Amino acid sequence: MCGIICYIGKQNSVPILIEGLKRLEYRGYDSAGIASLDSESNNVLFVKSVGKVSELEKKVKSHKFKGDYGIAHTRWATHGKPTESNAHPHTDCSKKLFLIHNGIIENYEVLKRELEKKGHRFVSDTDTEVLAHLIEDNLDGNFEDAVRKSLGMVEGTFGIAVIHRDFPRKIIVARRGSPLIIGVGEGEYLAASDVNAFIRYTNRVIYLNDDEMALLNDDNIVITDLNLNRISKEPETIDWSVEGDDKKGFKHFMLKEIYEQPKTVENAIRGRLIEGEGISKLGGLEPVIEKIMNLKKLTFVSCGTSFYAGLYGKYIFERLTDLDVYVDYASEFRYRNLKLSEYDGVMAISQSGETADTLAALREAKRKGALVLGLVNVVGSTIAKETDAGVYCHAGPEIGVASTKIFVSQCVILNLIALLIGRRKGLSIFDGMNLIREIKKLPEHIKTILENGNVIRDIARKYLSFKDFLYIGRHLNYPVAMEGALKLKEISYVHAEGYPAGEMKHGPISLIDENFPTVAIATNGFTYEKIVSNIQEIKARNGKVIAIATEGNTEIEKIVDDIIFVPETIDILQPILNVIPLQLFAYYFADFKGCDIDKPRNLAKSVTVE
Ligand code: M6R
Repeated sequence: MCGIICYIGKQNSVPILIEGLKRLEYRGYDSAGIASLDSESNNVLFVKSVGKVSELEKKVKSHKFKGDYGIAHTRWATHGKPTESNAHPHTDCSKKLFLIHNGIIENYEVLKRELEKKGHRFVSDTDTEVLAHLIEDNLDGNFEDAVRKSLGMVEGTFGIAVIHRDFPRKIIVARRGSPLIIGVGEGEYLAASDVNAFIRYTNRVIYLNDDEMALLNDDNIVITDLNLNRISKEPETIDWSVEGDDKKGFKHFMLKEIYEQPKTVENAIRGRLIEGEGISKLGGLEPVIEKIMNLKKLTFVSCGTSFYAGLYGKYIFERLTDLDVYVDYASEFRYRNLKLSEYDGVMAISQSGETADTLAALREAKRKGALVLGLVNVVGSTIAKETDAGVYCHAGPEIGVASTKIFVSQCVILNLIALLIGRRKGLSIFDGMNLIREIKKLPEHIKTILENGNVIRDIARKYLSFKDFLYIGRHLNYPVAMEGALKLKEISYVHAEGYPAGEMKHGPISLIDENFPTVAIATNGFTYEKIVSNIQEIKARNGKVIAIATEGNTEIEKIVDDIIFVPETIDILQPILNVIPLQLFAYYFADFKGCDIDKPRNLAKSVTVE
């Protein structure tokens, strides 16, 4: 969490940094700050503000300052409340050094006590401020050396950028566990936690690895390890568009991303399906395909929405392959004492490719000898780089904090991966071809659901007064129930619980009364009759029911209070359609409540702390 952006060049850094912060705001949005220096006068603009980047922007504009290099930060609070003094950049006692940080300094209390004994005065509750004072304490004429030495003394994770008025036109950046990418422009350098922050200026990038440091100055960049050994790295050109950075007339990014989903599916499958042979082609997995075929077990590890995609993937793999498939929260997997070998595959599923728990789970699996795979959206992200092989979503940036289009993309691609493995292990060409034909119809089906948006909006309005919701689904639709409930709670702050419908009788049914509505996923399939029984049980207890049902099902209309129809596809793909109305229901519900949909309270898009 937290977003870092730096610029050094000939342009005025201030608008570039503010614009970069806006693109990073999904990483945290409780406070922001900037330090920009003008090389000629050595004057500094140092401004911080509580709240969103727009608040900082207002303050900065009133200064009319121009500075040709600088650093800026948007924060998601870990240590200390979101106040101006806790916002970054942090300074040292001399007020000449400015430092921004993403990550956690775990030994900050010990370091702080020692520095206080030496006379350093702290003004914030943060762990980061310690690093600013530590560099000051270690500074003996050589800025790079002081930074290197200080980083050697801290425990924890960091992506940092630091500047000093006594060492003009130098920005030092370094990382351990938090992403930092350098953009190489024409006569200018940028650095950020995410390429999105600077992709407008350059698509030539250098990825810093852990325990690497870079000195950016006027006309060159020097990369070293933390012992100051030189490391040679050439910029890579990346294929990442700026598409997605405006709302294209939609009220929120989330709504835009929901409506993008027909395209998201097309992007996920483009060039990856060979219908005549009933197989998929995934170039990213080819180098390890033999190892994949030898796997005895595959575990999906991920968090949040990506976890629910993995849960769905488990059912798909069970149906299409002969692999033993498991799914685990990355935050749990990382501390389990698992015996893994080369016959174990661990697939990290992540939109951002930076989620700390998912990354830690992956590293643990790698340490134990498993084949580590990735299903990631952000190109060049840490997870994408640390896996043995993987598949990209190619869904473009997802800006809304609530994940929508990436869930759909992940679910589609999990089908493609399962098809790739299944077809080599006994899945018939007929079944493969049938799956491909149905996958190709998904964009049209999704369009049909989206055209029905007004109906879903009216239903959301009708249920606005309710404070609790139960979401139920069975088998393949159980992950969708979980995801629907997550969507509602994260953006509307209303309590929603997802449950496998069969579990309802084992506890949750006691909650049901006229004030506790249920969203039941009741599309056609072999568990349809079972879920209808569950609906009847709810109705018998005066519970209201909103059903997601298959177009043309006139029977279910008679027993539920409200109904949202979706087109029919084969049962393994049906959850991909069923989730769309749940996204829209959550969206409209939150919008009617006036919630900050793209930036819900307390959340951040990319969770880079444990
Ligand atoms: O970037 P990742 O897919 O690894 O993120 C995982 C979760 O943090 C994420 O899905 C989160 O749950 C979203 N807010 C859900 O909408």
